[in-house]
Amino acid sequence: MEHMNDQDWWRGAVIYQIYPRSYQDSDGDGVGDLPGIARRLPYIASLGVDAIWISPFFKSPMKDFGYDVSDYCDVDPMFGTLADFDKLIETAHGLGLKVMIDLVMSHSSDAHPWYQESQSSKDNDKSNWYVWADAKPDGTPPTNWLSIFGGSAWEWHPGRCQYFLHNFLTSQPDLNFHEPQVQDALLDVAKFWLDRGVNGFRLDTINFYVHDKELRDNPALPAEKRNPITAPAENPYTWQEHLYDKNRPENLAFLRRLRALMGRYNAAAVGEVGDDQYGLKILGEYTSGDDLMQMSYAFELLSLNVPTALYVKSVMDQMDRDAPDGWACWAYSNHDVPRHISRWNLSQDAVRAYLMLMMCLRGSACIYQGEELGLPEAEVAFEDLKDPYGIRFWPAFKGRDGCRTPMVWEKSNNTGGFSTGKPWLPVSPDHLNLVPELQEQDPAALLHTYREAIGLRRTYPTLAKGEIDQVAVQGDVLRFVRHHEDEEMLCIFNLGDQATTLPDEAVLGWDAITETFDTFGPWQVALFRRSLEEEA
Ligand code: BGC
Ligand code: MG
Repeated sequence: MEHMNDQDWWRGAVIYQIYPRSYQDSDGDGVGDLPGIARRLPYIASLGVDAIWISPFFKSPMKDFGYDVSDYCDVDPMFGTLADFDKLIETAHGLGLKVMIDLVMSHSSDAHPWYQESQSSKDNDKSNWYVWADAKPDGTPPTNWLSIFGGSAWEWHPGRCQYFLHNFLTSQPDLNFHEPQVQDALLDVAKFWLDRGVNGFRLDTINFYVHDKELRDNPALPAEKRNPITAPAENPYTWQEHLYDKNRPENLAFLRRLRALMGRYNAAAVGEVGDDQYGLKILGEYTSGDDLMQMSYAFELLSLNVPTALYVKSVMDQMDRDAPDGWACWAYSNHDVPRHISRWNLSQDAVRAYLMLMMCLRGSACIYQGEELGLPEAEVAFEDLKDPYGIRFWPAFKGRDGCRTPMVWEKSNNTGGFSTGKPWLPVSPDHLNLVPELQEQDPAALLHTYREAIGLRRTYPTLAKGEIDQVAVQGDVLRFVRHHEDEEMLCIFNLGDQATTLPDEAVLGWDAITETFDTFGPWQVALFRRSLEEEA
């Protein structure tokens, strides 16, 4: 397959995110698994995406549903075996799909043998593998750093008579990247999977790898400076400027080592960078040049902020300023935020316009399972909640279970064909009307629009790989130009409910790709192209 050898395959790629617990169960235990995913790969390939990203399937006590790893080099039995993974890769590659796996290297599970040894004494071989620190003289934690999942980021360990750092759950102790052996061990993990044939990684929380060695307190952020896009406003984590618990310059050195290893395999990575204040700036730092990450996952379109024309322009302007030669990976939905159709309360037309926008933006794109069906956020009752983050902040913030309910496939039973057993989270009854089985038969269904929109990036490499400029806004109308080699494309979006007109001169000299029109209707999208060569 030609594109399998393309070094630059990641640039402008469309990546389909799979949350393995909730994709397809193959053994009736109510939890999705690798053989289930393998069975559905032809469906995924039919969408025209370039790659899949599979959220963690490694051995884990599942306190954070796989983002707490107790063995980085094995598959959790609930998901299958290494042999199942090998089969999955082979099937995916046969269908022309790249496989990206989700490495959670900033922290491990407290059940990981590394942590078990580290916590056993102050002088064992791995005593320095996690972030241990003495209490202040008054017994309180060493710094004011907070855990995203609530409370102090420090947990007291009576055995060592010290605190350990955790940016997430107390059962997710933070690995100490100042310790060279830790970096080496994690690079070995990456190598293990590269040797098994993965094409790249989604790297969890890459700006959290290194903490400040001097353990300095984060400054407070005054209310008017807060910008809660990585956590809800009712989470005091958003009230600090995260200068010292994350975003440290030493991250770059580790990322360079990782990239050098990936380079030997022609692999690509998208590193998740979450920060309310400096997200795009860090994205620029981590993805510029060719010795760091290829792409960085951004939160700007994952927040509660509805991406109005002005908002999208402000994000593009910021990219231009802070990350001119960086590369973003955009997403509207994922396993951490309410599904965007509900989060932004979008009509069917609006969902389609935003899909087209994503396919036209400079950057790669992640689509989250079920988004192609237009699944709304599921209502999950408090009694059914599984996410510890939601349980802690309920009801001000309901956590992440509403976007993690099982994928639906057919109308045949009340699990939508997900499982023959009782699903780990309830299937949302209103999802059953949106199953692929029904949408395939309805030419007007959203699923077909996803296929067409994704297909545009194959048809017009300018949309996938080109530069962006001339970003302009008039009312709800956003327009910009993409250009690549000898081609330019003009992309115009009405991101509003009002019809408007496009003056003829605005599109003079351009060839329309989409239908032409007299009025520019609500949520209408218009694409044009022209060849620079023909003009010369
Ligand atoms: C993942 C979350 C996870 C956290 C801790 C992230 O940003 O996407 O699902 O809880 O990292 O690993
Ligand atoms: Mg199963």
